[in-house]
Amino acid sequence: MTTPASSGTKKRVFSGMQPSGEAHLGNYLGALRRWVQMQDDWDCVWCIVDEHAITAGGDPAELPGNVFDLAVSYLAVGLDPEKAIIFVQSDVPEHTELAWLFNAVTPVGDLERMTQFKDKAQRFESIPAGILNYPILQAADILLYKADAVPVGEDQKQHLELTRDIARKFNAAYGETFPETEPLIEEGVGRIMGLDGEAKMSKSLGNTVPVLAEPDEIWNRVRTAVTDPQRVRKSDPGRPDVCNVFTLHGFFSDVGTRADIDRRCRSAEIGCVDCKRILSDNIAAAFGPFRERAAEYHANPRLVREILDDGAERARAIAKQTMAEVRDRMGLDWRKATG
Ligand code: TYM
Repeated sequence: MTTPASSGTKKRVFSGMQPSGEAHLGNYLGALRRWVQMQDDWDCVWCIVDEHAITAGGDPAELPGNVFDLAVSYLAVGLDPEKAIIFVQSDVPEHTELAWLFNAVTPVGDLERMTQFKDKAQRFESIPAGILNYPILQAADILLYKADAVPVGEDQKQHLELTRDIARKFNAAYGETFPETEPLIEEGVGRIMGLDGEAKMSKSLGNTVPVLAEPDEIWNRVRTAVTDPQRVRKSDPGRPDVCNVFTLHGFFSDVGTRADIDRRCRSAEIGCVDCKRILSDNIAAAFGPFRERAAEYHANPRLVREILDDGAERARAIAKQTMAEVRDRMGLDWRKATG
């Protein structure tokens, strides 16, 4: 028995996000915005990867709320349960089962050279195996659905290369089963910098703008953004080409506004605070419809629950087929010996 790679004529995409609360502007530009656009042309599976979020422990009291908040973010930005499967990883136990089986074809050396592992490992005296095995679970997420492609930001590139290696090794050892999934990384948005202008925008660094923030909060964040370090006084001419705030204008302000800011920054006619104010207002306007939709879901948590329950059921139906095939290929069927 083989699992269809995708339903109908559409190719399948899978992607996921860790539930560390609401999504932020980097998640939105690097991933979510594209996911929304893909929903008409692809067979889409969007996951909340709660089992990835606990690879190094975590507070059990916070996780349910974080999953809920991310689900609201997904729905608020436009992920659509009518068009896509939207579900929570731990509702489909086949993810961890397949991850276990992939241990058999994954060299430890490949896991140890992952840059995300090396970065995270530094934070521990005794390194949890979860952060080493993290990319195996990610490969299982993707291959369980035989996804043709995975839209992600640049930081996931190495994990996706490993996913392809795992698929290749599995196919070589047990027969052609999995596709070699393509990473889809959008040029220019694969690595959105944080408001500190120094590191990738990331919740753990506190340099983000949450997509569901109120205009006041957006302003409180954006006003702290680092601009051209050489521009100390308002009377100093600025250099938009090295300024992260100006880069962010590229996503939220129209061409005319950008040209005007560029000129007035270089001639010191506009200061950084005014420039940030325009950016903050434009982000607040762009994210306004998301806040409105989020308020509806917050007022109706049962609806969110129904959407995720339904998504899990649909995901499980695909996962079960793949696992039946994998178990058979790996000889996990002792009854065969009894005739
Ligand atoms: P996570 O939760 O860190 O991020 C979710 C998605 O957002 C992208 N992203 C960014 N893109 C551009 N600029 C940024 N500053 C930025 N920050 C985050 C990420 O690249 C990602 O696409 N390991 C994954 C979760 C995962 C997964 C999967 C992804 C688990 N299984 C299967 C795809 C397929 C992660 O931690 O993403």
